[in-house]
Order: sequence, then C-alpha cells, then structure tokens
Amino acid sequence: MTSQTLREARKYEETYEKMIPAEDRPAFHLPARVGWMNDPNGFSYYKGEYHMFYQYYPYDTNWGPMHWAHAVSKDLLRWRNLPAALAPDEVYDKDGCFSGSAIELPDGRQLLMYTGVRKEQQADGKFREVQTQCLAVGDGVDYVKYARNPVLDERDLPEGSSRFDFRDPKIWRNEDGTYTSVIGNRPADGSGQLLLFRSPDGFHWKFHKVLASNHNRFGKMWECPDLFELDGKWVILTSPQDMLPKDFEYHNGNGTLCLIGRMDPDSGDFVEEYNQAIDYGIDFYAPQTVLTPDGRRVMIGWMQNWDTCSHRTEERRWFGQMSLPRELSVRDGRLVQNPVKELEELRGEKIEYRQVSFTDVLRLDGVKGRCIDMEVTVRPANPHNIYQKFAIYLAQNEDYRTYLSYHPSESVLKVDRKFSGSRRAIIHQRRAQVRDRNGELKLRVILDRFSVEIFVNDGEHVLSTTIYTDQKADGISFFADGGVVMDVVKYELKG
Ligand code: FRU
Repeated sequence: MTSQTLREARKYEETYEKMIPAEDRPAFHLPARVGWMNDPNGFSYYKGEYHMFYQYYPYDTNWGPMHWAHAVSKDLLRWRNLPAALAPDEVYDKDGCFSGSAIELPDGRQLLMYTGVRKEQQADGKFREVQTQCLAVGDGVDYVKYARNPVLDERDLPEGSSRFDFRDPKIWRNEDGTYTSVIGNRPADGSGQLLLFRSPDGFHWKFHKVLASNHNRFGKMWECPDLFELDGKWVILTSPQDMLPKDFEYHNGNGTLCLIGRMDPDSGDFVEEYNQAIDYGIDFYAPQTVLTPDGRRVMIGWMQNWDTCSHRTEERRWFGQMSLPRELSVRDGRLVQNPVKELEELRGEKIEYRQVSFTDVLRLDGVKGRCIDMEVTVRPANPHNIYQKFAIYLAQNEDYRTYLSYHPSESVLKVDRKFSGSRRAIIHQRRAQVRDRNGELKLRVILDRFSVEIFVNDGEHVLSTTIYTDQKADGISFFADGGVVMDVVKYELKG
C-alpha cells in the first residue's frame, strides 16, 4: 500500500517537473527531478536497466525530510524518471529515509536497504536523530517496507558506537549466496568507522567486524561507504565530514576518501596500502558504485558538496545533479577514473587540430560549446625550456569564464570558477597536484551546461565542478606563457 506521504510526493513531482524547460537541465547528467537532490542511492542493475535512486526532497530546493527519488537508464546517461520510491512514512523513518543501496534477490525482487531516521528528545531537551537500518522490497517501481523494520539498530552496534551516527548501508551478495553490508558509524573517539554486517538471506543481519577505523585521521564521521575488489586490490570509498586539509590531496570540509589495500574477504581484515582523495574538484561527494553486467565497476557521485550548497539561483526549480558515470580501475596502486564508454555514443560533430604551436592567446575555429567532450594534449615546444603556464578558458564570453591552469614547474592544476556568474562567497578554486611528465599534460574536459569534469592524464586525477554560467557563454580559448604544441579533439555531445 502506498502511503499518503508517498502519493503526495509522486503527485507533486509529476505536476511540477513540467515547469522546468528541458534546456534548463543538464543534457546527460541526472538532475533532481524537482526540488532537492543529494547522494546517489541504490545504484544497481535490475531487470535489464540501471537503477538510480537518490536522496530527495521534492518540495523545495533545500534539504528536507528525505525521500528516495528513482530513475532508470539503459546507458547510464539518458535517464527516465520513475515515481519516487520511498517516503518518510513509518515511525522508524518518520524524519527521513537516508542513504542506502539496492540489490536483486534470487527470487527476482529488488531489495533496498536504507537508513531510517527518527528524532528523539534527549534528557537535555534537545532532539537527536536515531539512525537504524531498514529494508524495502519491490518490483522496480513500487516498494513495500519490511514488516520487521528496523533490521539493525543500536543493539547490533559494538560497544561505544553511536546510535545517532549509524548510516548509509552498501549491500552486496557474496558468491556463496550470503549478503554483506558496510555501514558508516561513529565510535567513542568521535571520529568515524566502517562496520561490516552479514546476513544469510538479506533480511536477518548480524554485526561481523570493524572494517576500518578513522582514528581522526581523515575528518570525523565517515559517510556513504562502498567496498569492492578491483584489479587485484580491495578498495574502500567513503566521504568524511569535517576534514582538515593536507597539501593538495585533501581539502577542508566534506571530502572524499579512497583506501586501497589487501583484504581477506572471509575474515574482512583490511590492510591499507594507499590513500587518496577520489575527486579533486569542488563538487563531488558520496559516490556509489555498481558492477555492470559486462564486469565494469562504475561509480557515480553527487556532483555537489555540502559546503557549497548555497551556490544556486532562486528561479531554478531543481538543485543537485549526479556526476558522469565513471569506470574505475587501479593503476600503479592508485584509483583511476574515466567516463564510461557509453559517452562516446553521444558524440556528434568532431573538430580536430593537431600539432598547433603557439604562445600567448589562441582561439580555434569551431572549438566552443557547453555540451562537449574535448581532449587536449599539450607539450612544451622546447623540452629543454618548459613553458611557465598553460590555461584553458571555458564557458567564456565578455562577462564570464571558468578556467583550468597548469604550472608545470610545480605540476599543479587549478580549476577556477570565480567568474562563472556565482554570486556567493563560496569556494571557487581548487588545486590538484598531478603527476609530472616534463610539461606534457593530457586533459579530457566534459561540459554539460551546468558542470565541468576534467579527467587528467587518462583518469589519474579528476576535478568536478558545477557552474551555473549563462548558456550563451560558450567560448573556449587557450593560453600559454612560453611555447607549447597542442592537440585538440572536440566533439559536440547530444543529450
Ligand atoms: C551524505 C549524507 C548521508 C545521509 C544523507 C542524508 O551526504 O549526510 O550520510 O544518509 O546525506 O540526506
């Protein structure tokens, strides 16, 4: 039975999405259907389609009591909205259906595992959110909450762990038919930890062990974990709150963290070998992965960050969009991300320039646009006298520009959206230390109306940033302080 709360949300989204013209949305990134979007949830492959649910509040472009929105796609790029899947309509989730994940059960039904949130008054009079793990089962459109919810609560937590920060289950089915879920939590030291839970059938769950402890090394609470095997390594993804910066690797505030290491899947003993940020741009958080039917590990993140949420225009009826789907791999012990190959199917007109030598400012005929896939390779004209700086200006006209600049002497790449039309005093720049290759740099830049995603040196680093620049600003130009030789291949992308 669909509750009144869910029926209202479904009716609202159907009525008000019509008021958003298609050109006011990204062409091939999934935006909020209407209202507010945050984390990707339940990213899965089910009945021949990819399913994406997300944290959703249809009634406002600000965060509110969380629902789960729902969309499906055959190619991970062109999404079709389905009715909202979950609403906060039970005692145990009355204050929100927080993040979670989805899998297919052996009987063909789809199982959602999410965090139910209920505010509870404390002895000091303040209200705090109690977080438990809940289930819903459905057919790909309609979901029924499990009668025995919640399936995990404070009684299942190890000693000293907080029942107020216990959220974001990522579930998967093991080869032997049992299930594992990794869940974020806050231990007694006030930082974060990831807990593993196991189940024989997806419905009865028991605590297994602590997978990883933060010990206040990377921020505090760890949100939205994921865990998978990739190229012979084990990879943990999580999004820490309250980060302190470290060089150009980690920035202040809400960040992303990838731990790469070894793990015995039976014991769940994880040994960290390497750590890095996942995305080095301004807007990326809470990614989730899916294993595609052809064996690729594909990740999508919320292309936004809690610390930059004031970056919006009042007249727009949606806020929040997903990142491009990115195929993951591990190369030289690091996480590598590249746009999924499906993106190539959206390519239209191609413009190509090879071996262009220049210094100072350059514009190239036909190189412009706000929905493009552009690969730029730059090399020093003289390898013994490397240029000082190279830059690409995007979404440019007399008033606006967003640019990438690279200083080979430090190997630092910067993205700057200060002049993108933003009227807020938020972060507008971010720098990443990329791998030095004697002045050679390869960038793949994807623009989709309201965003820029930059894949550096075949996916070694990625920088994602939203820009709400007027669409008329579609110019692109290049700048070099010193002599460079550049190749540019640019495609229009069709939504
Ligand atoms: C991460 C997060 C999750 C939580 C959800 C609430 O962005 O804080 O931990 O489940 O958002 O909307």
